Amino acid sequence: MQPRRLHMSADPPSKPTRADDEPRTSRRTLAIATAVGACAVAAAAAVPAIALVVAPLQGGKGGGRWVRTLKLDQLKDGVPRRVAVVDDRKDAWTVEKNVDLGSVWLVRDGEKVRAFSAVCPHLGCSVNAVPAADGKSAGFACPCHTSSFSPDGKRTSGPSPRDLDVLETKIEDGHVVVDFRRFRIGIEQKVET
Ligand code: FES
Repeated sequence: MQPRRLHMSADPPSKPTRADDEPRTSRRTLAIATAVGACAVAAAAAVPAIALVVAPLQGGKGGGRWVRTLKLDQLKDGVPRRVAVVDDRKDAWTVEKNVDLGSVWLVRDGEKVRAFSAVCPHLGCSVNAVPAADGKSAGFACPCHTSSFSPDGKRTSGPSPRDLDVLETKIEDGHVVVDFRRFRIGIEQKVET
């Protein structure tokens, strides 16, 4: 029996010519360009979307706001008076009129006024003034866990980790204007929220 012979072609398989490559290269280039273009369009579209999502957060976070309260002559020297802080609340889309933002204790000293946040630095309860016999301030006290503070807001006893938070004030057109801010509770440092 004759051994079988494998038939081998004399011609190697033909390699693609440069002309064959060109359409493939062009298709690849086109695909890459399309992908890059799509990414650029997506990125461009994402910028306004992020701006829209972030904008409302910017309005409410951090920083103070100068809020006009009562007239200076409505305060008696050394007698603390609690006042509500009312102002418009704005974000990117809406304005809420006359929102109650919180309250502060004002204490007049001549032509100046000191303002203390009415929020206890311990766990955030509302701090009361303690009147002295002459009606002036004997300090402040928190009913929740009996923290006490001197008339100038210094911590004297109880679990509060720091003094009362002092706020900036100025007198404008005879009114007391307060730089209203909020601070983190439960920590020693005065850190704005
Ligand atoms: S919240 Fe004021 S003492 Fe605890």
